[in-house]
Amino acid sequence: MDSREIKSGIFSVGAIDWDRELFDALIPLPDGTSYNSYLIQGAEKTALIDTVYPPKKDTLLNNLKNLSVDRLDYIIANHAEPDHSGSISAVLELYPSAKIVTNSKCKEILKDQFFFNDNQFIVINNRETLSLGDRTLEFIITPWVHWPDTMLTYLKEDKIMFTCDLFGSHYSTSELFANNEAKYMHAAKRYYAEIMMPFRKIIKKHLNTIADYDIELLAASHGPVNLNPNHMINAYQDWISDDVQNEIIIPYVSMYGNTTRMVEYLINSFVKKGFVVRPFNIITTDMGELIEASVDASTIIFGTSTVLGGAHPAVANAAFLLNAVKPKTKFVSLVGSYGWGTTVYKQLKSMLFCLQAEFIDPVLIKGYPGNEEYQQLEAFAGHIKEKHNNNTLSAAGV
Ligand SMILES: Cc1cc2nc3c(=O)[nH]c(=O)nc-3n(C[C@H](O)[C@H](O)[C@H](O)COP(=O)(O)O)c2cc1C
Ligand SMILES: [Fe+2]
Ligand SMILES: [Fe+2]
Repeated sequence: MDSREIKSGIFSVGAIDWDRELFDALIPLPDGTSYNSYLIQGAEKTALIDTVYPPKKDTLLNNLKNLSVDRLDYIIANHAEPDHSGSISAVLELYPSAKIVTNSKCKEILKDQFFFNDNQFIVINNRETLSLGDRTLEFIITPWVHWPDTMLTYLKEDKIMFTCDLFGSHYSTSELFANNEAKYMHAAKRYYAEIMMPFRKIIKKHLNTIADYDIELLAASHGPVNLNPNHMINAYQDWISDDVQNEIIIPYVSMYGNTTRMVEYLINSFVKKGFVVRPFNIITTDMGELIEASVDASTIIFGTSTVLGGAHPAVANAAFLLNAVKPKTKFVSLVGSYGWGTTVYKQLKSMLFCLQAEFIDPVLIKGYPGNEEYQQLEAFAGHIKEKHNNNTLSAAGV
């Protein structure tokens, strides 16, 4: 897409990837994504904030050429991941005298990932500023919003915070700006779940730092520019908090329907007890939706048939992923059917070592569930409700 002017002398010059289907070879992208790059023209110097994923580099280079940018002084690298830094070399071919401006950790990772010389860098410290003449950039080093190298860049006079991955969304749209409409916020929450949730505690500190800044626009490097920063920052405050919703998610797989019957019983039982329940049949589930649902669910109950002694590999994959993204879930358990013997609970529990949740005894049955097994499930659901009642949840009606 052609460049678009955010305000006088500030342009969005990156690329929209309407058709990208997977990010990091892992998470589906139902709405594509974008790699935003921002050009800032000062009275004396010109800076580019972040670049784009290398397959899209021509869009960036053409946008710079079409804007008749004849001189580029600084390439600000907020993050060394190739979706933002992979086209720095291509930009440098066009503007060989430009310097890469970044923090020391980002410089180190950039040098590991690409071929750069020391003399191509200007290394900045936390809160250091860089003048473009009538415009000033300030760098705020914020490790772990996504890698240990990440930083934000604040354009003081215009009150724009360039946040790279933080507050981003995999959401391709022709609109330059978003105003927190539901579809966009859903994409932002899903993005938070996939990329930011593992660093929830560190983000808390960074949000305190950000609170010192007067921000009119949040310009992330994925998704549209946010016109209402407070709304997004408040949403993050909520997502990173320890509060959970009155919601139970059930990732499950069943080969012959027995585990499905157990899950269906539980859905009805939990609904009658006032919970919101979201089952995810892992065979057909978009894993991004499952992870997004885990952002504020109070409870995760896995459901699986036993396969070769353990969990169905698809459920094991879901457990592995949920363990990696570390949701703030308070309670975890398991239901499932087996044929003659199972170690599924032990196995699943050992896979979920990062979750700071209480593990509740599972319901594992042989073959199909009959009356006795449904009674067991009813008792199990009642036990979980009790656990909720004893916990200080923001769970109205439970
Ligand atoms: C490929 C395969 C491997 C299985 N391995 C085991 C096993 O190791 N231990 C066990 O107790 N049951 C095993 N079973 C039996 C199932 O766990 C059992 O039939 C169960 O009731 C299926 O639940 P479902 O209807 O939810 O798929 C296996 C079944 C299949 C098809
Ligand atoms: Fe990243
Ligand atoms: Fe990114």
